[in-house]
Amino acid sequence: MSAEVEAYHPGLEGVIAGETAICCVEQDRLLYRGYDVGDLARHASFEECAFLLLHGELPTAPELALFKKQIDGERELPGAVVEVLRAIPRQAPMMDVLRTGVSLCGNFSSAKSQGASNLLTRAVRVLAAVPSLIAVRLRILAGKPLLEPRPGLSHAAQFIYMAFGREATALEEKILNLTLVLYAEHEYNASTFAARVCTSTLSGLHSSVVAAIGTLKGPLHGGANEAALHLIDQFRSGPDARAWVEEALEKKVKIMGFGHRVYRNGDHRAFILEPYVDELAKARGEPWRAEVYHAIKQTVWDKKKIHPNVDYPCGLVYYFLGFPPDIFTALFVMARVSGWCAHIIEQHENNRLIRPRSRYTGPAPRAYVALAAR
Ligand SMILES: CC(C)(COP(=O)(O)OP(=O)(O)OC[C@H]1O[C@@H](n2cnc3c(N)ncnc32)[C@H](O)[C@@H]1OP(=O)(O)O)[C@@H](O)C(=O)NCCC(=O)NCCS
Repeated sequence: MSAEVEAYHPGLEGVIAGETAICCVEQDRLLYRGYDVGDLARHASFEECAFLLLHGELPTAPELALFKKQIDGERELPGAVVEVLRAIPRQAPMMDVLRTGVSLCGNFSSAKSQGASNLLTRAVRVLAAVPSLIAVRLRILAGKPLLEPRPGLSHAAQFIYMAFGREATALEEKILNLTLVLYAEHEYNASTFAARVCTSTLSGLHSSVVAAIGTLKGPLHGGANEAALHLIDQFRSGPDARAWVEEALEKKVKIMGFGHRVYRNGDHRAFILEPYVDELAKARGEPWRAEVYHAIKQTVWDKKKIHPNVDYPCGLVYYFLGFPPDIFTALFVMARVSGWCAHIIEQHENNRLIRPRSRYTGPAPRAYVALAAR
């Protein structure tokens, strides 16, 4: 057997597919540019975190003010993009709308070359465009007038304002900001890898982000937060949830929001977010939802010794914040686009075409058979 064939790892499990200075994912730590995600979650705004990912260092106060101003300057969508958002059929999933919206926005981005500063300009544009695309689409679906962005609001509060036409409460802003920080970056996950593969062909930033959005949509990746909420939403008591999950696990059904390719002792981000499940369930007067949450978690642990990943608490937290489930994965994009863009820039800076090999499992060589003889 050749060394190439022996080195095959299904799903690329355990394969080091590249180097990165952006993020370190290990069993006992998760670092963005060297900073612990717990510290960032406690202290940093999403904008600080996005600056850190894109530039490699935390911003000074003037740098942060300028960065926020640049994002605010790019929030308004071109009229033609809004028209397309109106034309997309109502039943289209938000992730598909976002994929189309980002792609369309790319045609309005005048930065032509792919040099480092132009990539940063494009990164800011796409960072600003994503929440606007989600918010405008929500307003269109609700039959409500579109709202001008309000410069000066945080990224989280701006989204809540543009989507729902009201000021975010301090708790909403804090928790949405927290989830954006937790979702911002995660090394060579499937969507980031897709973005890097696309970038490695020297395609443009918007193409790479579109590839990443398509990849994130699936329930084995970012789509798990919405799927986890639908699972929790099926039950009204802990014992009901437990009985269903036991039976499902017997049948080898995958429980959404559980398991992770890398983490074996639990997902750092889930531990950080979980306390808000109980706090919000209490605040919203729906304690039974927290009971169902814990019953499912305990059953999966008892039966399979598998921990929840970040998507499990996040689905319920977004539900408690009043967000429609169809936008949960799109909110993941709103955060992760910062990490994707950092990886696109890093890939460009030290590019080599990503082109692995496959193991051939088809027929042995055989003679062509003329059409008339088949
Ligand atoms: C994330 C995920 C795709 C990682 O998959 P993976 O590394 O390929 O792991 P595998 O699918 O090989 O799973 C290994 C074992 O754990 C089980 N397992 C993993 N995740 C599971 C889940 N969510 N529910 C039930 N069993 C699970 C598998 O069935 C398998 O069990 P077996 O050895 O008895 O057959 C997988 O855990 C999953 O599908 N989770 C649900 C979707 C999700 O939450 N995705 C978000 C990830 S952040």
